[in-house]
Amino acid sequence: MSASFLAQGGQVGGTGRVPGDKSISHRALMLAGLAQGASRIRRFLAGEDCLATLAAMRALGVRIEQPQPDEVRVEGVGLHGLQAASAPLDMGNAGTAMRLFAGLLAGQAFASRLIGDASLMRRPMERVAVPLRAMGADIRTHEGRPPLDIIGGRTLHGITYEMPMASAQVKSALLLAGLYAQGTTRVIAPAPSRDHSERMLASCGVPVRTEGLTTLLEPVTRLEPLDLEVPGDFSSAAFFIVAGLIGAGPAGLRLQNVGVNPTRTGLLEILERMGARIAVQAEATRGEPVATLHVEPSALKGIVVPPALVPLAIDEFPVLFIAAACAAGTTVVTGAEELRVKESDRIATMAEGLAALGVEHRVRPDGIEIEGRPNGPAFRGGHVDSHGDHRVAMAFAVASLRASGAIRIADVANVATSFPGFVALSRRLGLEVAEAA
Ligand code: S3P
Repeated sequence: MSASFLAQGGQVGGTGRVPGDKSISHRALMLAGLAQGASRIRRFLAGEDCLATLAAMRALGVRIEQPQPDEVRVEGVGLHGLQAASAPLDMGNAGTAMRLFAGLLAGQAFASRLIGDASLMRRPMERVAVPLRAMGADIRTHEGRPPLDIIGGRTLHGITYEMPMASAQVKSALLLAGLYAQGTTRVIAPAPSRDHSERMLASCGVPVRTEGLTTLLEPVTRLEPLDLEVPGDFSSAAFFIVAGLIGAGPAGLRLQNVGVNPTRTGLLEILERMGARIAVQAEATRGEPVATLHVEPSALKGIVVPPALVPLAIDEFPVLFIAAACAAGTTVVTGAEELRVKESDRIATMAEGLAALGVEHRVRPDGIEIEGRPNGPAFRGGHVDSHGDHRVAMAFAVASLRASGAIRIADVANVATSFPGFVALSRRLGLEVAEAA
């Protein structure tokens, strides 16, 4: 039987810190491996997703030491120093790893095969394969999905690519391939998305710039190594932000060292429109902006979420739906069809769980409408299935703060992909979650 959570609510408070950012940790390993010389990465996220990237970089011939779980030292091999892996590279549950490696490996002289777990093997890969082929790469999918076979040995050339969706993974894959391309690579987005790749490439000395919705990159011959401290993952902090709003004592909840890159913090803007009281106090910035957040218990009201904010809050919708269920009136989410191709179909899995806990809602092809209950319990106790989706599992644990009975959440092992220590931190901050068989 797979692991489950028993979440029994409580009252949250105190001060906490979430682990390092997943997106930044993946990128740091990749760029450090391609750099000339030694890089040091502190507060690295030692979650399963990033450990898959770490293992893949090692399999490609990069020496990586991990003196502590959250500290990594990488001996970069240079842009042309990677070697063919002796076996398929297993990306586990990590869509970011698979899509970014597709771009990175497209420019190599050797062939690679990328595989993953059952969830990842169902996810769409043509979104990276199509533009990489246009750059000259030979990439094969299996009816649009993994395994991904990257033949290698092709000369790449820069292209101008108009992305059909605002995907940081697609953008980043093209920028990584662009390091190996002849000429300029231009990626035009329909809306802004997280810009960690651009910031980190720039700090490695790569000429990359953003003009409106276009990102441009010129190829280089070498990357400078990194000395990086990874900020806390905003997407992990999101669970405790909502926990603080719907279930904190009068003193609220404080979260330190949270990454607040504006391309990640759409949830703050959405919640503020819903009436949330969240104070953001900037800390010293080291490449990426970082802040302490002070979250106060707040009376939330339902809103129509502006579609422009969707890509800036894309991973936070499961827990936003929990906030919406506690808000007065209706919350409407549209323009969020990308949620259907995440680690699970997050509209369907969240709707199934909301139904099991008695929350009135209507599913739309590209979103959901949720009727909130601002007073008293917003959820009844019951059983939900996360369908192996880490963020769905953690979202329903937060829901227990406003539930009339315990919530049992099935299939939660993947919480370790993004948030090792979730249960321990939850308990320390007052959210009663226990792991069960
Ligand atoms: C990520 C981009 C987003 C996000 C994912 C991480 C990244 O995916 O959902 O969790 O690190 O680039 P898309 O690019 O598919 O929107």
